[in-house]
Amino acid sequence: MDNPFVFVMFFGLLLTLGHVVPQAESRAFFVFGDSLVDNGNNNYLVTTARADAYPYGIDYPTHRATGRFSNGLNIPDLISEQLGSEPTLPYLSPELTGQKLLVGANFASAGIGILNDTGIQFINIIRISRQLQYFQQYQQRVSALIGPEQTQRLVNEALVLMTLGGNDFVNNYFLVPFSARSRQFALPDYVVYLISEYQKILLRLYELGARRVLVTGTGPLGCVPAELAQHSRAGECAVELQRAAALFNPQLVQMLNGLNAELGSDVFIAANAYEMHMDWISNPRAYGFITSKVACCGQGPYNGIGLCTIASNLCPNRDVFVFWDPFHPSERANRLIVQQIMTGSTKYMNPMNLSTIMALDSKV
Ligand SMILES: *[C@@H]1O[C@H](CO)[C@@H](O)[C@H](O)[C@H]1NC(C)=O
Ligand SMILES: *[C@@H]1O[C@H](CO)[C@@H](O)[C@H](O)[C@H]1NC(C)=O
Repeated sequence: MDNPFVFVMFFGLLLTLGHVVPQAESRAFFVFGDSLVDNGNNNYLVTTARADAYPYGIDYPTHRATGRFSNGLNIPDLISEQLGSEPTLPYLSPELTGQKLLVGANFASAGIGILNDTGIQFINIIRISRQLQYFQQYQQRVSALIGPEQTQRLVNEALVLMTLGGNDFVNNYFLVPFSARSRQFALPDYVVYLISEYQKILLRLYELGARRVLVTGTGPLGCVPAELAQHSRAGECAVELQRAAALFNPQLVQMLNGLNAELGSDVFIAANAYEMHMDWISNPRAYGFITSKVACCGQGPYNGIGLCTIASNLCPNRDVFVFWDPFHPSERANRLIVQQIMTGSTKYMNPMNLSTIMALDSKV
């Protein structure tokens, strides 16, 4: 079938007959969270949190901006690659219909956090409770296609990725000096509050049928080019944001372990993005990077001020930069993260890595 017209005819016929065949080869994949994993939902929204213009996407297969906050592929794309699937579409994409729904969906939206007041400056973004509502709506749409039982199986057998939390610090607590949240809470108390709200979100996700959920902790928030530009004299990481990450990440792992114990199953898998990043920060050259401090695209000190736009400095070789823009890793850094998610030791993956999970789940 190299004639695309014949393919469209054939595919159209399948749909009109109502025979949408479940794809048995690979499991569905669902993505929730913020800009680290958004692959284009914000393109459809009135928001300032967007990555839909050059030079975003410069190394993407189409060399066009897609809404991914990367020069090329992002973490969900690379996990899809490992699952042997095509990338999931953004939930708001009009292309997400019919057979494509069975691949999964990406509900993530740049700018959001655990808390509803995180990212309010971005105006119209899909907060996490709304992402979960969309997940419910998605399941209704799939039910109409393959029936409720098959749908539940698809969801139960799926892999889920959840990436949240960084914005609750960067775009909330530490957004401005004397922010409302920082006047309300001392940092340790704020972290406890975040973790308790995060737990409710994850339990809701479980209620909606998720049974294998990768949960990423925050990276070293104080070491991103945007923070170095504002707080660093000699390239040292910003202390308060590092303290936030150091408080948040261990409590997240503890909370996930508690949930798993309660549920009697390893539903939630923690990915230690902090340790993964710290490896490159302490020795960028060992991983083929020339710098972990300067963003490829941006302006000002460390290329960390403002947004990455057509007017920004742009590095010629994105592969040797940890950071693509002032906040987000390059495709190559994303690849190393996904490699650790797949095969990393318990230093990075708790209680186990994704290749172990995939081997376990394929035996069921
Ligand atoms: C956030 O908003 C949702 C939807 O309006 C609500 O159900 C939830 O309780 C809110 N969360 C908090 C922490 O206020
Ligand atoms: C992770 O994956 C590799 C196989 O790729 C395996 O040898 C290793 O033991 C795993 N580590 C853990 C902690 O699960």
